[in-house]
Amino acid sequence: MSRVVLAGAGDDLRAAVVAAVDGDVQVLPPGRLPADPARLFELLTDGELPDVLVIGPHAALQEAFALTARLDVQCPGVSVVVFADPTPETWQAAMRAGVRDLLAPTADVGEIHAAVERAGSAAAGRRRVLRPVEETARYTGRVITIASPKGGVGKTTVASNLAVGLTETAPQSTVLVDLDVQFGDVASALGLVPEYTLPDAVHGPANEDTMVLKTFLTQHPSGLYAVCGAESPAAGDTVTGADVTRLLTSLAREFRYVVVDTAPGLSEQTLAALDRATDVVMLSSMDVPGVRGLRKELDVLRELCMIPAGRHVVMNMADPKGGLSVRDVETAIGTGVDVVVPRSPAVPASTNQGVPILAGGRRDPAAKELRRLVARFAATPIVRPSRYRAKHRAAS
Ligand SMILES: Nc1ncnc2c1ncn2[C@@H]1O[C@H](COP(=O)(O)OP(=O)(O)O)[C@@H](O)[C@H]1O
Ligand SMILES: [Mg+2]
Repeated sequence: MSRVVLAGAGDDLRAAVVAAVDGDVQVLPPGRLPADPARLFELLTDGELPDVLVIGPHAALQEAFALTARLDVQCPGVSVVVFADPTPETWQAAMRAGVRDLLAPTADVGEIHAAVERAGSAAAGRRRVLRPVEETARYTGRVITIASPKGGVGKTTVASNLAVGLTETAPQSTVLVDLDVQFGDVASALGLVPEYTLPDAVHGPANEDTMVLKTFLTQHPSGLYAVCGAESPAAGDTVTGADVTRLLTSLAREFRYVVVDTAPGLSEQTLAALDRATDVVMLSSMDVPGVRGLRKELDVLRELCMIPAGRHVVMNMADPKGGLSVRDVETAIGTGVDVVVPRSPAVPASTNQGVPILAGGRRDPAAKELRRLVARFAATPIVRPSRYRAKHRAAS
């Protein structure tokens, strides 16, 4: 029998549904219907996706259809049956939302049983169709970690623009993860008000199932997905390196690109993100303290064999009047510089508006260089880190 969850039901209906499915049903507490799939999962005791969600007449029809429409997109393996007067108008709205069946409030146990059976086999059918696609599409996508020894050098700016740019090259392909666990500001950079944040994505039901995890992401109008930073430093501190590894592994199965913004320096979470990365974007401001810090961080990462195969060095806030040339920087850090983003007043303006400069479609010298960075990823294949590391170790 299918896993059935019942919401919005009074005592009579509850008894009828329990009888119709031989007691195999989780009844949600009375009250408002959860507004979205993630809230629904929070209420489930076993944290597993149901096959069939039955919504009784105590729930407002608008809310039932709104939840169904979100489940239809985010969790197509769940069928929804709604109790409502089956008028033509209601049928039409139900169909548009993706409701599998409507039952009259007067339906008897036999009719409920038949409807739940039909909905359950439809759910199983959809899952069978979806699964092979999911499995072949298990990308193990590219994990791109943005890191720098110092704060205020443009990590969040580069990460959010890179993520928006990659989304443009392949819609729904990219997720941006805010691993500046204490003071993350990805949400602000993207103008998002997240309902769920990093701790929700690594603890609880999202941790068990990638389909559930997807419902805990925040969507940006561009089609980019985001795991926004914790609400407080204390909440952020509950996220461990092991949590980060698990999260990035799950996301890489679902997304072609996982872009990771980090806190300054080499925290436990940043090291975990570097360890899981196929690519690192090492960032520095174009000044002597920034470049010195970058040199030290590169040295440490080399010693730890933690520089992934894809290594990209980006100098930000470059200013011809600053007195440092790209060649000076390359000599100081002992490696090439790949992209130089000039200082531009349009960048802080875009940060303050919560619209990444690449999303605003502006012509600007900084936007042009950020697009060059995007092109490095959109155009090149992945080099697997394991091979590189083996080579790296053999050489050292
Ligand atoms: N190329 C640039 N030109 C001018 N200002 C920039 C540039 N890159 C970043 N900024 C600004 O610098 C500030 C810090 O950037 P941010 O991305 O938050 O740094 P981090 O994440 O490294 O702390 C922001 O106000 C941002 O708009
Ligand atoms: Mg930042």
